[in-house]
Amino acid sequence: MHARPYVIDQMISAKSIAARIEELCTEIQTEFADTDKLVVVGLLRGSFVFIADLVRELDLPIEVDFLEASSYGDGMESSREVRILKDLRGGIEGRDVLLVEDIVDTGHTLFHVTGMLRARKPARLRTVALLDKPTRREVDMRADHIGFEIPDEFVVGYGIDFAQRNRNLPFIGKVRFTDGK
Ligand code: IMP
Ligand code: MG
Repeated sequence: MHARPYVIDQMISAKSIAARIEELCTEIQTEFADTDKLVVVGLLRGSFVFIADLVRELDLPIEVDFLEASSYGDGMESSREVRILKDLRGGIEGRDVLLVEDIVDTGHTLFHVTGMLRARKPARLRTVALLDKPTRREVDMRADHIGFEIPDEFVVGYGIDFAQRNRNLPFIGKVRFTDGK
């Protein structure tokens, strides 16, 4: 099968993302003002650019850890089955945890991952997602902090991929197919 041709239209500029991250960090700092150590957990791979910018704006004592969960294959449809491919290096019992996600779409990933982390008895578990597609929701989940609500479009860039491509774009763009199908 041939890959369908597509172009990427910018949806959210790098400048808008940076400005929104400053606001998110103000919210997060207020929420965790009393923490002596926050574990910021990035959900790989889509959150790697977001978490890098986020932690550099966060004026809190933090550690960084990563978790990899499978969701999509190489296509555009959620598999609805979430598996842990790479677990955290550190324990989170009694710790304050901030889970960092790129997009909440159907909600299955956030539901499974927060359930799994909560079972490890963190003192507090909060979530931040750069993007939220509320119209796509299949399970009733919402991140505590949301960068941007977006319509039901397939997006790429700023860490987010389409079939592993386009993660390195500095902005968020939407995929538009040009073959008219
Ligand atoms: P959910 O489990 O359906 O909420 O999906 C969450 C994950 O699906 C995100 O972390 C992304 O990795 C991926 N995803 C959802 N929407 C998009 C998109 O528009 N572009 C690329 N990946 C997406
Ligand atoms: Mg993801």
